[in-house]
Amino acid sequence: MFIIKLGGSVITDKTKQQCFKEDVMDDLAEAIKKANKETILVHGAGSFGHILAKKYELNNGYKNDDQLHGFSVTHKMVQSLNSLVLKSLHKNDIPAVSLSPHSILKLNDHKILEFNYKIFNAYLEQHFTPVTFGDVVLDKKLGFSICSGDLLVMALAEYFKPEKVIFAIDEDGLYDANPKINKNAEFIDSTTLEELEKFITTADKHDDVTKGMEGKVDTIKNIAELGIDTVLVNGNKPERLYQLMVGKDTKCTIVNGRK
Ligand code: IPE
Repeated sequence: MFIIKLGGSVITDKTKQQCFKEDVMDDLAEAIKKANKETILVHGAGSFGHILAKKYELNNGYKNDDQLHGFSVTHKMVQSLNSLVLKSLHKNDIPAVSLSPHSILKLNDHKILEFNYKIFNAYLEQHFTPVTFGDVVLDKKLGFSICSGDLLVMALAEYFKPEKVIFAIDEDGLYDANPKINKNAEFIDSTTLEELEKFITTADKHDDVTKGMEGKVDTIKNIAELGIDTVLVNGNKPERLYQLMVGKDTKCTIVNGRK
């Protein structure tokens, strides 16, 4: 089984509010259909979630009643992105079913408190493709907060122990420095948890891309600890996702799980 996260910056234009990249999503859906493997899909919120979530400061929990409006409209937006993703999957004949995080899980201070994993199992058993996404959710300590797609991937990976976790991102994979500012940055095609730790301590923590990468690396480290391989692949090149899913070589970064 595969757990695949389609990053918000792949399926939306993060700089423009509610801008869905339909063509990219259609190509990814076609690749997933062609690979024909048991899959759980998770997608990010991109510009459908982050802009509003920031405006209403939803990640730090309840402060005032205005945020209740913020929570509901943010939820509506990510749900509408989810509908667009489902439409694309259905067009490609994938029996995708949406599982909204806000109704199947609860956090406590940003950590998973309750999660209805059984519903994923039940749909998989019937050969459906469950689809979940970064959402606003209830939080026991904070009232509410945000459940990112990465947190969902981690929790699902721990429960389902998939063959691979795949992150479709808007880069080819990991580099040893920021490729946007360092011409000598070298591409990492395969690495281990131990090497990744070294790499992060030597990385320049002041540039944005590295910071973004650092967050992702934390998620990957947690997955690698479970003994599961994680792959970062360019979501704008759907043929790479297909090749990965059918076990062919392709350009990507593989982080080997701890053996
Ligand atoms: C964020 O989800 C959810 C909300 C802002 C409501 P993600 O963190 O998984 O989204 P991306 O992949 O960064 O866009």
